[in-house]
Amino acid sequence: MAYEAGMKSQQMRKEAGPGVDRLQALQAFNARLVCMTVNESSYDEVVSGVWKVLGCDACALFLKDDTTGDLVLKGSVGYPDIASGLRISLADTGSIHAQSFNEEYLINVDDLDHQNGVKPLSSRIAANLVLPIISNRGPVGVFDFGSFDSGTFDAQEIGMCSMLVDQMSYSLENIRLVGELSQSRDAVIRGMALLAEIRDTHIGGHLNRICELAELLAGRLISLPGYQEVTGDFVDTIARAAALHDVGKVGIPDSILLKPGKLTEAEYEIMKSHTLVGAELLEGLRKSFGDFTMISMGVDVAIGHHEWWDGSGYPRGNKGRDIPLAARILGVCDVYDALTSERVYKKAWSHEETEKTIREAAGRQFDPDLVDIFFAKPEDLFAVREKYPD
Ligand code: C2E
Ligand code: SIN
Ligand code: SIN
Ligand code: FE
Repeated sequence: MAYEAGMKSQQMRKEAGPGVDRLQALQAFNARLVCMTVNESSYDEVVSGVWKVLGCDACALFLKDDTTGDLVLKGSVGYPDIASGLRISLADTGSIHAQSFNEEYLINVDDLDHQNGVKPLSSRIAANLVLPIISNRGPVGVFDFGSFDSGTFDAQEIGMCSMLVDQMSYSLENIRLVGELSQSRDAVIRGMALLAEIRDTHIGGHLNRICELAELLAGRLISLPGYQEVTGDFVDTIARAAALHDVGKVGIPDSILLKPGKLTEAEYEIMKSHTLVGAELLEGLRKSFGDFTMISMGVDVAIGHHEWWDGSGYPRGNKGRDIPLAARILGVCDVYDALTSERVYKKAWSHEETEKTIREAAGRQFDPDLVDIFFAKPEDLFAVREKYPD
C-alpha cells in the first residue's frame, strides 16, 4: 500500500499561503521553540504552535513509547473526539501512522472517501498527511495533519509541513533529554540523601516523614499574609528538598554519628560541620546539574536547618527572617521528628512532651509563627507517623 503525495493545486487556506504572515508565524514559532521551558505541557505547546503556523484543521503528535513499543498521543488540536493517551501499535499494518513510522516515509491520503481501510483520527477528516519524526536516534514518532477537505496537501503544503516537523524534531529531542535529566537528577539526589542516612540507625521513616512534615507545614502557608513566596511550586520543591537537609552527615565519622551516648564538646563541633558539608556537596551538584530550584533550596535547608530564630544556632548564627523560610520550616520539622523518634543517644519522646518543648523554644530556637501553624492540627502529624513508622 503506498500513497502518493497529492499534487492538486488547491490552496490549503487562502489567507495562509506562503506569504509574509506565515513566515512571521513560523519565525515566532521557532523563537518560541528555542526558549521554551520544558515541562509536561511542552508537547501541547509544540502541537498548537504548528497548528497556528499552518492554519490546518487538525493535527496530532505521536511519540514512540520505548517500553511498550506503541505510538502514544502526546498532544492534538482540532480532533474533536480523540482519546488522550491514545495508543497505536506499531504492528498494526492497517495504520498509516504505524506505517509511516516503520517505513520512515510520508503518507498522504488525498481523499479518504476513496481509500479502503484507512482510519483517520476523526471521521470528519477528508485528507490526512502523516510525517515521520526522525531524530539522530532514528524515527521517534509521527506528526499527523488532518483536513476537512480532500486534496488539501499539495506539494507546497507538504514542503511546509516537512520543514516544521524537521525543526520540531530538535525540540522534541530536547524535551525528552530534559525529562530524562530531571528523573536522573531526582534519583541522584534521593541517593545522596539516603547515603547520608544509611549509617544512621533511624533511616527507615525519617526521610519520608521529614519530607511529608515539611510539605504539610509549607502547604498551610499558601495564601497566608506574609508568605507570598510560598506557591504550589515552593511546596512541591520543599517536599523533595527536605530530604537533603542532613546530606552532610556523609562527612561525619561513624565514631561520632553512631556514638550511643552524649557527644563531647569537640565531637559536637565536628557534628555541626554537617551543615556546611551538605551545602558544599549540593553546590557541587549545582555546578554539574545547573541551577535547579530543588538544589538551591537543598543548599538553603542543608546550611540553615540548625540556625536559631534568636541567632544562637549554627553554622552562621543567622537570625529571624535572615534564615531562609525553607530552613526555618525544616528546623521545626527536624526537631519534631528527632524528638518523637528513638536515636542511638536518646529514647523517643511523646507528642505532648515534644510539643511542650518546641513551644517553649518558640521565639528562641524556632520561628514562633511556624510553631503555631505546625501544631494547629496534631492529627495530621500523627498521620505522617502512622504512614511511615520507623
Ligand atoms: P538529630 O538526631 O537528627 O537531631 C536533630 C535536632 O533535634 C538536634 O540538633 C536538636 O536540635 C534536636 N534534638 C534531638 N534530641 C534532642 C534532645 O534530647 N533535646 C533537645 N532539646 N533537642 C534535641 P543538634 O543538637 O544540632 O544535633 C544535630 C545532630 O547531632 C543530631 O541530629 C545528631 O545526629 C547529633 N547529636 C546531637 N547530640 C548528640 C548526642 O548527644 N549523641 C549523639 N550520638 N549524637 C548527637
Ligand atoms: C543534647 O542532649 O546534647 C542535645 C541533643 C541534641 O541536640 O541532639
Ligand atoms: C536546631 O537547632 O536543632 C534547629 C533549630 C532551628 O533551625 O530552628
Ligand atoms: Fe541536621
